[in-house]
Amino acid sequence: MKNSYRIRPATESDLAAINDIYNHYVLNSVCTYQEELESLDDRRRWFSQHGGKHPVIVAEAGRQVVGWGSLSPYHSRSAYRHTVENSVYVHHQQHRRGIGSLLLKDLIVRARSLGHRAIIAAIDKEQTASVALHAKFHFEKVGHFKRVGLKFDRWLDVIYMELILDAPRPKSPPPGRSVPIRLSGHA
Ligand SMILES: CC(C)(COP(=O)(O)OP(=O)(O)OC[C@H]1O[C@@H](n2cnc3c(N)ncnc32)[C@H](O)[C@@H]1OP(=O)(O)O)[C@@H](O)C(=O)NCCC(=O)NCCS
Repeated sequence: MKNSYRIRPATESDLAAINDIYNHYVLNSVCTYQEELESLDDRRRWFSQHGGKHPVIVAEAGRQVVGWGSLSPYHSRSAYRHTVENSVYVHHQQHRRGIGSLLLKDLIVRARSLGHRAIIAAIDKEQTASVALHAKFHFEKVGHFKRVGLKFDRWLDVIYMELILDAPRPKSPPPGRSVPIRLSGHA
């Protein structure tokens, strides 16, 4: 039977499950550049800094938390106030079941309704799943920082992907028609 998943705002009682999902990647993956396990106290502090314009959500299968996502401030300088950075982590034994898509879709809807204008995803270059997930939701690659991370004795590159929320949605061109090139940016 196909699993059904429920996305809902996280509560304090989800923090241990959120941390277990995350700490697997701290120990085993370069998808996070954190190298020390996240303690529950740190996770509680992180959670207390979220809420309101910066939600934390979880995906549940039955009563088990199988993934989580968040919107965090991108930068502390005030002019960045309409920009957020997203995180999505799915339990390592639950990949490719659509959970990451449900979480990211929900975060985008929330970001729009909270008045945010841009979502940034900072993704290690090797994370093909994460890059593909964000591309599926029309995030565009906007930056590539080379050799900015060092984990497991390897230098790592970070890719930045961005979704601008007030941009018109991309439409597929009609068959047989050429696509006009739209120049963007400010002179
Ligand atoms: C990235 C991650 C969240 C994806 O979650 P998921 O539940 O497996 O994703 P989904 O099943 O919804 O797949 C979404 C899309 O991602 C792509 N994708 C997922 N896994 C992939 C893989 N291993 N290789 C290539 N593409 C992949 C596919 O395009 C897929 O779309 P499709 O199923 O319509 O083809 C998950 O792999 C994960 O938790 N990784 C570790 C943490 C991480 O890198 N988080 C991102 C940091 S912000």
